[in-house]
This record gives sequence, structure tokens and C-alpha cells, in this order.
Amino acid sequence: MIIGIIGAMDEEIELLLKEIELKRKEVKASMVFNFGSLYGKDVVIVRCGIGKVNAAVCSQILIDDFNVNAVINVGIAGGIGKDIFPGDIVIAENLIQYDMDTSAFGDKIGQIPRLDTYDFKCDNKLVELAKGACKSFEKNFFTGRIATGDQFVADIEKIKWLNEEFDAIACEMEGGSIAQVCYLNKVPFVVIRSISDNANNGAHMDFQKFTPIAVKNSTYILKNMIKIM
Ligand code: ADE
Repeated sequence: MIIGIIGAMDEEIELLLKEIELKRKEVKASMVFNFGSLYGKDVVIVRCGIGKVNAAVCSQILIDDFNVNAVINVGIAGGIGKDIFPGDIVIAENLIQYDMDTSAFGDKIGQIPRLDTYDFKCDNKLVELAKGACKSFEKNFFTGRIATGDQFVADIEKIKWLNEEFDAIACEMEGGSIAQVCYLNKVPFVVIRSISDNANNGAHMDFQKFTPIAVKNSTYILKNMIKIM
């Protein structure tokens, strides 16, 4: 069993890279794939870069070239809703890409046209493991839908829309495309994120302030999860 672990930014994987027993590195598509063992499990840890295209390329490489059996996406997200705060954890049950819009043809926004699913469901077992990993976590964790798009959301109207249109609990820029690639390849996946901001008008400032704590928390949950896998 090999687990592919994707973070979008260096910050999101740096704590994991400190703990991996590194065996080798390989560069593909300008991404450094770090092979090794994390708490006795075979893993490939990689920073994919920001946005859906980077994340999709990275996921397909993990699956095709490195034969991962599962993909876990970790990192930070913008929280949606008044009860979710920086540092909290969100575990995706499913994801959508909110910037896919063929509504001119009568499709629901988010629907990838001519694909047989609207949302991309995370693997149940991985979701349960992630929830189990939150048991000793002192802050809140939420499960639900994550909305992905190529935009840093910093707009109260946009988060209202993401909440009303998609019932999303968080937004970020990679999970939904990793989910789509895993869906197409029938590879189990889960997305675990910690909140760095509330995607509102001060989001870019909160992001600077809370990213370190959010990264610490998402890494903590991932490590717990790997230990019980
Ligand atoms: N990742 C962290 N915060 C975010 C936000 N507000 N929008 C998109 N991605 C994010």
C-alpha cells in the first residue's frame, strides 16, 4: 500500500517532510516527489503548486507513475459559516468545482458536463479514519462538502453563494480536481484541511496570521490518521 500525500504549497507539507524517512526523490512536471516511510507506511509526499491544473497533473502522476493506492490532500482552506474558525479541521465527504459553469445548457453550476456524477465522493473508510484521527484534537472538526475553484475567496457575497448554492463548509483551490482525477481512475481519496481564514473581506490578512496554526493542525490529523491506517 502506497499513500500519495499532496499539499499545494511548501508550507502545507514542510512539517511532514521533517518526519519522513526519505528514501529517494524524483522530479516530474516540475514537482518533487518525496518517497519514503512515515510511521511505518509507504508514502509519496509532493507539493503540487496552487490551483486545479497543478493538482490534477500531480494526482495523475501519483497514480500512473508511482502506483499509489490512495490519495490524501492536506492543507488549509477558507471556512464557510459562522461556527467555523481558524484552526478548525474540515474533512471532505465530497467535493465540487464551483467554477465549472455550463448553466447555459441547463446544467447545474459545478456539474462537469457529460460526466456521470455531480460531486466527487471521498472514500468512506478514509473519511472514517480521518474522523477517528480527530478524537484527541482540541478544536472542532467538521465534515461535509468542500468547494474548489481557481480563486482565493475573499468576499462575503461569494461565501454566501458557496454556502447557499453548494452547501459548502469550506473553499480551497485543489481538492475538487484531485477528487475528479481519483474518481476517473477509481482511486480512493480524502481531503483534510484546516481553516486559515473565513474567506471574507479580511481573508488575505487572516491567511497570513493563521496559516502556521492551520498547517500544524492539518498535519497533526494526517499523522494520527497514518498511524491508525
Ligand atoms: N485556502 C485558504 N483560504 C482560502 C480561501 N479563502 N480561498 C481559497 N482557498 C483558500
